[in-house]
Amino acid sequence: MIRMRKTGWLVVNGFLTATKYQNLYAMLKNAAEKRGVSLVCKRADELVCAVGEEKERYAPLPDFCIFWDKDVSLARRLEGLGIPVFNSADAVAVCDNKIRTAEKLTASGVKTPKTIPAPMTFESVGYGDCSFLQVAEKELGYPMIIKEAYGSFGAQVYLASERSSALEIIKKIGHKPFLMQEFIAESRGQDIRVNVVGNTVVCAMRRFSDNDFRSNVSAGGSTECIRLTAEQEQIALVACEAIGLDFAGVDVLFGKDGPLVCEVNSSPHFKSSFDCTGVDLSEYVLAYILERV
Ligand SMILES: Nc1ncnc2c1ncn2[C@@H]1O[C@H](COP(=O)(O)OP(=O)(O)O)[C@@H](O)[C@H]1O
Ligand SMILES: [Mg+2]
Repeated sequence: MIRMRKTGWLVVNGFLTATKYQNLYAMLKNAAEKRGVSLVCKRADELVCAVGEEKERYAPLPDFCIFWDKDVSLARRLEGLGIPVFNSADAVAVCDNKIRTAEKLTASGVKTPKTIPAPMTFESVGYGDCSFLQVAEKELGYPMIIKEAYGSFGAQVYLASERSSALEIIKKIGHKPFLMQEFIAESRGQDIRVNVVGNTVVCAMRRFSDNDFRSNVSAGGSTECIRLTAEQEQIALVACEAIGLDFAGVDVLFGKDGPLVCEVNSSPHFKSSFDCTGVDLSEYVLAYILERV
């Protein structure tokens, strides 16, 4: 019997065209190729079609999808065709929205900074009366983290030192959903990026910045290898399990009473982890998936 070569799709966001993304996709494709699997890059905008017409439109269907986008509807519709999707639509949705992440982690007993979701508003009116800020002031005090629900690379994360700067930040956010969060002072300008695949920590690095409260590499942070404590390792694994992730980049903060999970990335930009630790996450991701399809 002829065994057909397995084919997977790597679903990516077609609007992110920078070389840094292309490099990641090449690493994933290479890891698949090494294992005799063809991984075809599909831009989500190439897969646009009417709801219900996916089966005809996407044929022939792949054996699995690596979902490196945040288009939850597309992930769900691929799952609807019976294709195994890694990470799942539900897990991607939880990670994409930092309010949902906080809800899910807190419900599962994973320590996170105290988080107060802002009330929802409408595009035509914005936040207007911000008296809800008083609840956050009482519960969190200043400085206070203000974060858009949807954001990456630290670009939508702010530190408000007093009410006037909080109001300015909220004004800038416009009508988008956001949260107010306890600032973990011990972790100012530093955190740990823990890369998890399956139920295993694959590699970790400390990220640090001397001139910014955010440690993101894209925001100018530096990196160094770190040996995790059992507690740090455990919190990252439990966070992934709580969200139902197959793989993830977990941001862990240094709290005065132990680690806290800051956020979880369902499609982590693992190139900086590779540069720092020499560990290629894509090898682990492909090995994990091919054991399951
Ligand atoms: N509550 C917090 N206390 C202290 N530092 C924080 C807090 N939240 C975020 N940070 C810092 O800001 C960075 C970016 O925040 P994060 O929630 O990971 O957003 P992004 O998705 O943009 O990376 C974190 O890596 C961390 O350095
Ligand atoms: Mg982050």
